[in-house]
Amino acid sequence: MPFPPETSLNRFDGKVAVVTGGASGMGREAAIRLGREGASVIVAGLADDERGAETVSLVEAAGGQSLYVGVDVTREAECEAMAQAAIDNFGRLDLCIAAAGISHAGYVSGEVTEGEPLLGGRGRHVLDKPVEYWEKVLAVNLTGVMLTNRAVARRMIDQGQGGSIVNISSGAAKAPIRGMADYCVSKTGVWMLTRVLALELAAHQIRVNTVAPGLIDTPMTLAVTSDEERRQRRIEAIPLNRLGEPADIAESALFLLSDQASYITGQILHPDGGIFVGS
Ligand SMILES: NC(=O)c1ccc[n+]([C@@H]2O[C@H](COP(=O)([O-])OP(=O)(O)OC[C@H]3O[C@@H](n4cnc5c(N)ncnc54)[C@H](O)[C@@H]3O)[C@@H](O)[C@H]2O)c1
Repeated sequence: MPFPPETSLNRFDGKVAVVTGGASGMGREAAIRLGREGASVIVAGLADDERGAETVSLVEAAGGQSLYVGVDVTREAECEAMAQAAIDNFGRLDLCIAAAGISHAGYVSGEVTEGEPLLGGRGRHVLDKPVEYWEKVLAVNLTGVMLTNRAVARRMIDQGQGGSIVNISSGAAKAPIRGMADYCVSKTGVWMLTRVLALELAAHQIRVNTVAPGLIDTPMTLAVTSDEERRQRRIEAIPLNRLGEPADIAESALFLLSDQASYITGQILHPDGGIFVGS
């Protein structure tokens, strides 16, 4: 079996989920798989109406209800409105996957960006990285996850029936990468934020966990994967000898969201084909 099959275990019948970064990549795949298993899904994306609408159609085709909501996760009011959209449109909120993220300050999902300032400091060592690039990555990848988590947790607490949150971190949370200090720090921050929130929200039966992917074939890795020679070199470095698929990450996230993981909170799962086992 090369990667997780499209089966439905009906784990999320009647549940409502918010997925940030839901218009593309692993967020989109998770939204579709949640829909297939019975959830209604708020697909939240950054001014990404076309890909957002496409994801909504895919979730509906898989059997779920869905709605696209535009959100910039760095803005608190927009995060609150996104979470409220779940209550207003589907009547409740049970699940969240925080997948919105950027690899560097100039990142635009689905584009291979080249040249300063589009690269936004990618590859620049700490001593050379303009502070505004650093702040942008931290704002989206770390503050954005915090604002998303608390917006959904507030509604879950009001509802009084628990909940489950999965934050997408990265193997870069434990493996330092030259030129990507901002990204690595943001992803380590997501890991610690998850653990603190797991403790703070446990009394409300809200579980918070992290998925830390390896190298996954999504719009974010186009710069590496669209060049055949670079792609092959990267694959050779992965013990399971393939790039990860969005489905690999979606299935890890769905497991942690599900009642099968009802005693798991504050943990990190590494679907990475073994690449960071030694880190
Ligand atoms: N692809 C990989 O190899 C890999 C590895 C480890 C971790 N990750 C993480 O996985 C997550 C999903 O990335 P992906 O690989 O599916 O790429 P992706 O580009 O398809 O997804 C990222 C999404 O985040 C959205 N986004 C960016 N800034 C936003 C903002 N301010 N507000 C709201 N949405 C915003 C983008 O529009 C996009 O839809 C990211 O957090 C990324 O850091 C990716």
